[in-house]
Amino acid sequence: MILVTGGAGFIGSNFVLDWRAAHPGEAVVNLDALTYAGNRENLAALDGDTGHVFVQGDITDRALVDRLLAEHRPRAIVHFAAESHVDRSIHGPGAFMKTNIDGTFTLLEAARGYWATLGEPEKAAFRFLHVSTDEVYGSLGPQDPPFAETNPYEPNSPYSASKAASDHLVRAWHHTYGLPVLTTNCSNNYGPFHFPEKLIPLMIVNALAGKPLPVYGDGMQIRDWLYVKDHCSAIRRVLEGGRVGETYNVGGWNEKPNIEIVQRICALLDELRPSPEGSYTRLITYVKDRPGHDRRYAIDARKIERELGWRPAETFETGIRKTVQWYLDNAAWAQRVQSGAYRDWVQKQYAA
Ligand code: NAD
Ligand code: DAU
Repeated sequence: MILVTGGAGFIGSNFVLDWRAAHPGEAVVNLDALTYAGNRENLAALDGDTGHVFVQGDITDRALVDRLLAEHRPRAIVHFAAESHVDRSIHGPGAFMKTNIDGTFTLLEAARGYWATLGEPEKAAFRFLHVSTDEVYGSLGPQDPPFAETNPYEPNSPYSASKAASDHLVRAWHHTYGLPVLTTNCSNNYGPFHFPEKLIPLMIVNALAGKPLPVYGDGMQIRDWLYVKDHCSAIRRVLEGGRVGETYNVGGWNEKPNIEIVQRICALLDELRPSPEGSYTRLITYVKDRPGHDRRYAIDARKIERELGWRPAETFETGIRKTVQWYLDNAAWAQRVQSGAYRDWVQKQYAA
């Protein structure tokens, strides 16, 4: 069995669903605090599946983590739990330090204690896989090569600084204590269950509601988009074959400026759910830029391809079409997650 943290969030829930399909014989213990970003409904397809054990709890709770490890004796921990939204980290960085740094520290210490109790060969087979981000490398200039695993860390936001700190802890726990760790640094994900505070789902739900599509600054910031199910398959591959102590960059080879993403979403909605008021592009609204906004991220994903034979299966075209269709087919899910707390956030972030 494996222990997953943050498995009710966007990527975590996709991973748990993917894992149960790919490894029906290996159970998942899913530890998630159910913050605003966690949603049990994402896992509804696993209701009645005895191979999925959901535990509501905090990764900073050492006693709880110790108990789960002792009780379930996982062969691996896959660590997704984090505060993940850059804009929220600008408004209130405290929660990011607590979960992303203290939480990772707590997990590492609990994992170290548990790992020390294992006999061979369980000890040799154990893995702690830390899911991180390309944002730790900072921002690229237009002509810079994409981020390689050897790039220096230059985090620019409270979020990326907290993730960088967690990556350093993971590295140190390997170097000092020999804990068998793996780290993945991934680019922007998109797909089903993406919380509509992030660019792609926000644009889809706002367009369908006839609301403005808020594009920060000049809309020419570049991100490298990866379909979430490709990220899940990359994590499975790294867990299976990654070299202990190594980091693997994961990306989609899909660099695109934000405005192009928004225009593509509008074009797909014009095709799939035309509005009587005309093209959704009429809703595009340029708004104040994000403070400290990173200009460009791009991932050099050659190491994971060379060493582990992983490449994304989706192109941006196929992935974004599936994503828009998913939001059209799951309007009730999108409606439900836009609860009172969500409306408070939107008011705070976009009022000006
Ligand atoms: P998310 O915000 O959608 O989900 C985070 C999950 O973690 C939620 O279910 C939440 O309830 C849970 N959580 C938060 N604090 C917790 C705590 N203290 N204890 C237990 N659970 C807690 O995030 P996501 O987009 O799914 O990202 C998952 C991971 O992948 C994060 O570590 C993030 O840094 C990383 N990542 C995300 C992206 C992306 O594009 N979304 C890209 C690269 C890396
Ligand atoms: O690169 C990986 C990272 O991608 C992850 O580590 C983060 O957890 C994840 O949130 C994401 O961070 P970004 O800041 O790149 O994603 P976001 O969807 O918030 O924004 C994508 C781009 O779109 C960014 O340049 C800001 C811009 N944007 C975003 C929002 C929410 C807008 O123009 N308008 C918006 O309303």
